[in-house]
Amino acid sequence: MSPQPTFQPDLMAGKVCFMSGATSGINLQIAERFAEAGAALFVISRSSDKVEATVEELRGLGAKADGAAVDVRDYSLVEKAVADCANAFGPIDMVLAGQAGNFLAPAIGMSANAFKSVVDIDLLGSFHVFRASFTHLNRPGASLLAITAPQATNPMPYQTHVCAAKAGVNMLVKSLAMEWGPSGVRVNAISPGPIDDTEGMRRLAGDPEIAAKYKQALALRRWGSKDNIADAALWVTSEAASYVTGTILEIDGGISLGDASSALPI
Ligand code: HXC
Ligand code: NAP
Repeated sequence: MSPQPTFQPDLMAGKVCFMSGATSGINLQIAERFAEAGAALFVISRSSDKVEATVEELRGLGAKADGAAVDVRDYSLVEKAVADCANAFGPIDMVLAGQAGNFLAPAIGMSANAFKSVVDIDLLGSFHVFRASFTHLNRPGASLLAITAPQATNPMPYQTHVCAAKAGVNMLVKSLAMEWGPSGVRVNAISPGPIDDTEGMRRLAGDPEIAAKYKQALALRRWGSKDNIADAALWVTSEAASYVTGTILEIDGGISLGDASSALPI
């Protein structure tokens, strides 16, 4: 039997997407998937080199694409980028707030600015992206997506900054879903588990021994792929999920169930 496509090829034809942090890793894969599905895309991240390379790559996939070097912590820059996106491609159908910062550090080894940096990138940055996009959204029907993490609900040592920031992202998503639902705007998040070949997992489990232990703690005993997250992002933002809002979609190999390695040895 020939392999089946994982999604309808023109699912995003004519749709306009604004995507923060979509120049590497998981979010780049999401951007590629949306480009293949027919969307026009505007990507932002801090590095102009990464933005240029991403725009070139997305155009190579046949998509209309543009972007700008923007730090999501600067609201005025985010506001300008969202307006540039709408001016170039029209009202915005899908918004991704995907950027994040992470490092392993004990709370006592972290300056106040280190903690604040991660909260500002992950939480304040996501608010900026969603807040700035609202007036440019194609309403009703627009769909907003944040990328959270299991740390939002599973406390973890050396991750106080990330746990606090991502817990905030979850509540931002749920509160906005209630506030903007009456305008026909859906707001959801995906919570990826450990995803192979990403900066996040290089930082958290770069050591093969730690990586092996990490896998033992997962119900599925393996890391996920960037494709797993891109497929979920395509579904949850598409019309196929038109009654889904305020959801934290756990695509995580079961990490949110708890530590599977501490269960009875079955
Ligand atoms: C303690 C640290 C530190 C570390 C940085 N800082 N690294 N403190 N231990 N390892 C401190 C700095 O000393 C500084 O504080 C403050 O943090 C800000 O650092 P800057 O380098 O000035 O900030 P900035 O340029 O804004 O960089 C942000 C960053 C950086 C988060 C620190 O790592 C970054 O840009 N990361 C983006 C990419 C990334 O992290 N990707 C992974 C996402 S994965 P002082 O007091 O000295 O000024 C993820 C979840 C994975 O989020 C979940 C897996 C299940
Ligand atoms: P990544 O490759 O480091 O991606 C982070 C992206 O955000 C990059 O495009 C980066 O580009 C951008 N960025 C960082 N700080 C920014 C800022 N201040 N302003 C604008 N853009 C900024 O990381 P990843 O591992 O793929 O993670 C992607 C997302 O998935 C994150 O939200 C992360 O928390 C989440 N997640 C990842 C995993 C995992 O297993 N990797 C698990 C759970 C959740 P620039 O450097 O150019 O700014």
